Amino acid sequence: MMSKTTLPTQLPDLSHYWIPFTANRQFKAMPRLFKAAKGNYYTTMDDRQILDGTAGLWCTPAGHGRESIAAAVGQQLLTLDYAPAFQSSHPLAFEAAERVAAYMPAGLDRIFFTNSGSESADTALKIALAYHRVCGNPMRNKLIGRERGYHGVNFGGLAVGGIAGNRKVFGNGLAGVDHIRHPLDIAKNAFTKGVPADGGIALANEFEQRILTLHDPSTIAALIVEPMQGSAGVIIPPKGYLKRLREICDRYGILLIFDEVITGFGRLGTKWGADHFDVIPDILTCAKGLTNGVVPMGAVAVKREIYDAFMEKSPAGAIELPHGYTYSAIPIACAAAIATLDIFAAEKLEDRAANLSDYFEQAAHSLKGLPMVKDIRNIGLVAGIEFEAIAGKVGAFAFATYLKCYELGLHVRYTGDIIAISPPLTIEKHEIDRIFSTLNAAIKYVANQGETGLDASNYLKNEQAWAAHQQPDEL
Ligand SMILES: Cc1ncc(COP(=O)(O)O)c(C=O)c1O
Repeated sequence: MMSKTTLPTQLPDLSHYWIPFTANRQFKAMPRLFKAAKGNYYTTMDDRQILDGTAGLWCTPAGHGRESIAAAVGQQLLTLDYAPAFQSSHPLAFEAAERVAAYMPAGLDRIFFTNSGSESADTALKIALAYHRVCGNPMRNKLIGRERGYHGVNFGGLAVGGIAGNRKVFGNGLAGVDHIRHPLDIAKNAFTKGVPADGGIALANEFEQRILTLHDPSTIAALIVEPMQGSAGVIIPPKGYLKRLREICDRYGILLIFDEVITGFGRLGTKWGADHFDVIPDILTCAKGLTNGVVPMGAVAVKREIYDAFMEKSPAGAIELPHGYTYSAIPIACAAAIATLDIFAAEKLEDRAANLSDYFEQAAHSLKGLPMVKDIRNIGLVAGIEFEAIAGKVGAFAFATYLKCYELGLHVRYTGDIIAISPPLTIEKHEIDRIFSTLNAAIKYVANQGETGLDASNYLKNEQAWAAHQQPDEL
C-alpha cells in the first residue's frame, strides 16, 4: 500500500519557477496546479477531480499512480541509486535495453538511452551523421525535416523541426538542413475519419523532387519525421505517404528516422506508428510513455546493421560513438521502463486503444457542425479539433476552450487554433463520452460569448483569486 501523504491546500510562492513553454505572466495570474493524480484523473489545488484528456503531456499511457512502477522505482533507489553511465554500467541498463528492443519493430534492436524526446532526436541525428562518416561517406551530412515537425527543443531537433514560433528567437541554428511540406490539407481532407485516402504519393514525391532539385541526394544523411505530427496539431499523413518516403530514402541511401515520442506505446492502437503505417524506419526515437512519464527517459533504437557498422568499422579500442548523458540508463529510469513494459504486456494497452478507437472516432466527430469547428482529425486514441482562425487572435478561441474545459473538469491541450485530445489508454467509454460532451459544452459556451468569450480573464475566477492573494501588497 502507498503511504498517504498530506496534500497542499495553499498556493506556493509562484515567483521563482520559470515555467517551460508557458506564458508565465498569464499563468501566474491564473495558476492551474495539479497536486495529485490517480488513474485517469488529476486533483486540483481546490480538490476538484479533472479528467485527464491528454495523458499528461502524451506521456502517461497506463494512467496515473501505477503502484508497480512506483514500487520498482522506490526499490531501485535503495538498491542501486546511480552507476556511472560511461565506462561502467549496471545490469538493469542491459535488461531495459533488451526489453525495449523486444517491444520495437523487427530489426530495431540496438538501443541508446537518453533522458527525453529532445535528446533522443538529437542523438538520432548525430548517429545518422556519424554512421555515414564511419561508412566512409562524410559528405552525406545534410538533414531533412518537415514543416510543422516537432523534434524537441535542442539545437538538432529545433533545426529539423518546423514550428516557426519555436525556432525564430534562437538565432541561426544548424547549417545543412532543409524541410519538406507537412501533409495537412484541410481544403481537401477536412473531417476525414482516420487516415486521409488521397494525395499521399504525390506529396511524398515532393521530397524526391526537393533533394534532386536543391541538393545532391548523395549529400543527404537522414530524413526525420513523426509518423503522425502531434505537437503541431495532430497531422495525419495520407495513405501511402510514409511508404513512399521509405522507398525514396532507400533509393538514395538516406536514413529514415521516425520520431515516435508521441506515436509510440500504443497511442495509435499499435505499439508504434511504424506498425500502424507498416513502414519500418532505420532509426526510431521515443521517450514519454517509455516510463509512463514518471522518470525522464528516452531511447533511440537503431537497426542492427547501423550498430554493427560502428562496431566493425571503428578503430580497435576507439569509442565508437562519442556521445551520451550522465543519466543515460539511470537505474530508476530502467526500473520504471521495465515496470511500464510489464503493464503493457499484462494489460495489452495497444489492443485496448485499438478496440476503443472507433468509439473515440465517433465521439470526436460528434463535434462536427459546432460553431468555429473547421476540422476534426483522429487516429487511434488521438483527436485534433481545429478552429477557424480569428484575425489578430491566433489561439485565443482554443485557449478559452481549454480554460472552460478546465472549469468543467476536463484537461485538454491547446496548440495554436487546435485542441488535441490524447487520453490515457486506460480511458473508459463513459470517460470518452465525458471528454467530448465537455468539449461540446465548452466550444458552444466560448462561441456564444462572442468577444467576451475570448477574454481569458473571464475564466477560472478561483485561480485568479489565489493569484491575487499572492501579490506582495496583499500578503
Ligand atoms: C515528436 C516529439 N519529439 C520530441 C519531443 C520532445 O520531447 P521532450 O519534451 O521529452 O524533450 C516531443 C515532445 O512532445 C515530441 O512530441
